Amino acid sequence: MIDSIILQANQNPLQGSLRVPGDKSISHRAVMFGAMAKGKTTVSGFLLGDDCLSTISCFRKLGVDIQVTGTNVTINSDGMENWNEPIEILDTGNSGTTTRLMLGILAGSHLHSVLVGDESIAKRPMKRVIDPLRQMGAQITGRSGGQFTPLAVQGTKLTAIDYKMPVASAQVKSAILLAGLRAKGITIVRESEVSRDHTERMLRQFGAQLTSANGVIQFPGGQMLTGTHVDVPGDISSAAFFLVAGVIAKGSLIRLIHVGLNPTRTGILDVLKQMGAQLEIEPNDSESEEPTGSVTIRSSELKGIEIGGDLIPRLIDEIPIIALLATQAHGTTIIKNAEELKVKETDRIAAVVDELRKLGANIEATDDGMIIKGPVTLSGGKLQSYGDHRIGMMAAIASVVSTQPIEIEQASCISVSYPNFFEHLKTVSSFETLR
Ligand code: S3P
Repeated sequence: MIDSIILQANQNPLQGSLRVPGDKSISHRAVMFGAMAKGKTTVSGFLLGDDCLSTISCFRKLGVDIQVTGTNVTINSDGMENWNEPIEILDTGNSGTTTRLMLGILAGSHLHSVLVGDESIAKRPMKRVIDPLRQMGAQITGRSGGQFTPLAVQGTKLTAIDYKMPVASAQVKSAILLAGLRAKGITIVRESEVSRDHTERMLRQFGAQLTSANGVIQFPGGQMLTGTHVDVPGDISSAAFFLVAGVIAKGSLIRLIHVGLNPTRTGILDVLKQMGAQLEIEPNDSESEEPTGSVTIRSSELKGIEIGGDLIPRLIDEIPIIALLATQAHGTTIIKNAEELKVKETDRIAAVVDELRKLGANIEATDDGMIIKGPVTLSGGKLQSYGDHRIGMMAAIASVVSTQPIEIEQASCISVSYPNFFEHLKTVSSFETLR
């Protein structure tokens, strides 16, 4: 089977309005929380990407009733204490969020379970989650002493811990908090750089009490979750691809509606503003836990900037597309303190640098990021996605300014987070595929 796509070089303006698919982080959590809660949970705007479907499939194997109709999901659960012990392995696919958060959830359950993912998951560090969970009393075994999948979890009674996060990671924080739900005592997580806070917000939405201030989260164990409604906003990490397309393709105007504007995720908007993008943000009036709004972008002259420190966790998934953005900005862009990129779906420092260089970009890898000099006219060529959705989409967006066609290998991985990405590209551009 040929899994590659060739995009015609397209230097025409992009125009239009899009509603990008639901937020991946929030979609995962909506299913997880709905399955843990007692009662009925309804979810609208759910992301039907491969990663979130992996989460649904894991909970179905625990006996939870989950119905999917379009982007609406209904979860009926008697609460996690009534889950069935799975007779099959729980396949987490390509999803780090599913794997790590499930570890926290299952550690405090009454079940034995085995988690396995794909080749990329097998390389991703699980020790960062397993260490704190073991401190809580979790019984987890796995490859290389429990550092990598496959991982077997024997659910048991847990005790709360006071944990200072060694890395800024919402997946680690969330695994500890979800284990803390069933633990004895008050779980405390201390973050030096604040990572995305969807778990904290959603715990409140499902009726739990928790406090969060100055990077310290305190969560008393033994609480019950109650089913509710979750409206999933568009994923700002998906919107980022079209924001960058709109700002770099001359004469463009793109509007993205109902996008999540949670401040722990909007680093990309700060970067665009600092680089000089003409950007308009209109927040929606809403009572829901997650802020949303519309963002309109016009093509603009850009300048290089320095990106690092506590901005990094607020845009960690956007760095591949920010690197492409920087190739079109005047001057030098330095991305630092982003060593976490090396342990994403692929080593994103190496992948971004290698692929953008193939197009003629002036980009160099550093230990904790990259240095990009611009502006550079990008050519075309055959780019590899490495099976990483965000590298694949970065390559596709390069075609809005490239002078030659761009072929993307393993392009189907884009469905991990953005199943209708190419349809949306067609909506706003005269984009054509040669294959
Ligand atoms: C996520 C957290 C981030 C992010 C990932 C989704 C989440 O990972 O990169 O795409 O949903 O909690 P880390 O926690 O490893 O930073």
